[in-house]
Amino acid sequence: SPVVAPDISKCGTNPLTGFKAGADTPEGTDCCPPDSTQIMDFQFPKDDVFRVRPAAHLLSPSYIAKFKLAIKRMKELPADDPRNFLQQAHIHCAYCNGAYTQSSSGFPDVEIQIHNSWLFFPFHRWYLYFYERILGSLIDDPTFGLPFWNWDTPAGMTIPNYFNDSSSALFDSKRNQANLTAVVDLGYNGKPSETSDLEKVTNNLSIMYRQVVTNATDPTLFFGGEYRAGSEPIRGGGSVEQSPHTPVHRWVGDPRELNGEDLGNFYSAGRDTLFYCHHSNVDRMWSLWKTLGGKHQDITDPDFLNTSFVFYDEKKNLVRVYVKDCLRTNQLGYDYQRVDVPWLKSRP
Ligand code: C2O
Repeated sequence: SPVVAPDISKCGTNPLTGFKAGADTPEGTDCCPPDSTQIMDFQFPKDDVFRVRPAAHLLSPSYIAKFKLAIKRMKELPADDPRNFLQQAHIHCAYCNGAYTQSSSGFPDVEIQIHNSWLFFPFHRWYLYFYERILGSLIDDPTFGLPFWNWDTPAGMTIPNYFNDSSSALFDSKRNQANLTAVVDLGYNGKPSETSDLEKVTNNLSIMYRQVVTNATDPTLFFGGEYRAGSEPIRGGGSVEQSPHTPVHRWVGDPRELNGEDLGNFYSAGRDTLFYCHHSNVDRMWSLWKTLGGKHQDITDPDFLNTSFVFYDEKKNLVRVYVKDCLRTNQLGYDYQRVDVPWLKSRP
């Protein structure tokens, strides 16, 4: 049977895993959301508004200003408002650091962990869906699309420069200072690479081809192993989750911090505004992969499709969502800006 959405009133503090063994949650970290007396069922958005998520490095000055303003307002919401930025960050911590158990599925002793399995893509898609709508509602712009960090194209391979402006709400002091303007290493394994920028770009493009095409020839390879009620997500993450997803987290995380905060650890990753743009691009890879045709299709196992989660929406309602409802971004009212995909055209 499928993993059932957690009962958030049973949320606890049970710090567990990080992106890397040894990177742990500080004891007592509380990432539980405010409780809610009712849960609503998800409704697809009305189709009169559509959001196009833009490439982060191509934003116009006015789009950057609107993005900063939305984040600023999100950070200024009362601390116990589920739309508040830190509350949004806590969602990641709660679903990834053992705050929830599978009690709703009848397994109160088994934690919920949405990484390293087929839940990785759908969970993060739903997470961003609500996050994006909250941002749009805070600036009264229902067309606001969450920018994607386009690290798979040469011009997008650095942290978009406006994230480094310390006076803006997008800023986060806990990032690797050596990498603020450097070319990202999509295969980062904890050791700074010695290669030239040009070589890094070439390596990154081959990693993209390898992880999205060569190593993801069927749904299990792309999405990751099965994860059903009662099981621990031990089957392993999908190709893109393993790389470049996790290397980018670790590459941005701050080595001066004990646990690679912010991006380098599950509990703190959502505290960096860059997290959501990183995941916007990860989510875009799901859409791109499906355009390859053939076996590049969503998993059809009912336990996958019927997995549920809960999130707060832009009206502070707690909403129950199912994996089966997030498979087509058009139905969710968004798509990605069409940009060149240099690694897809030719095998490196
Ligand atoms: Cu939930 Cu990028 O991890």
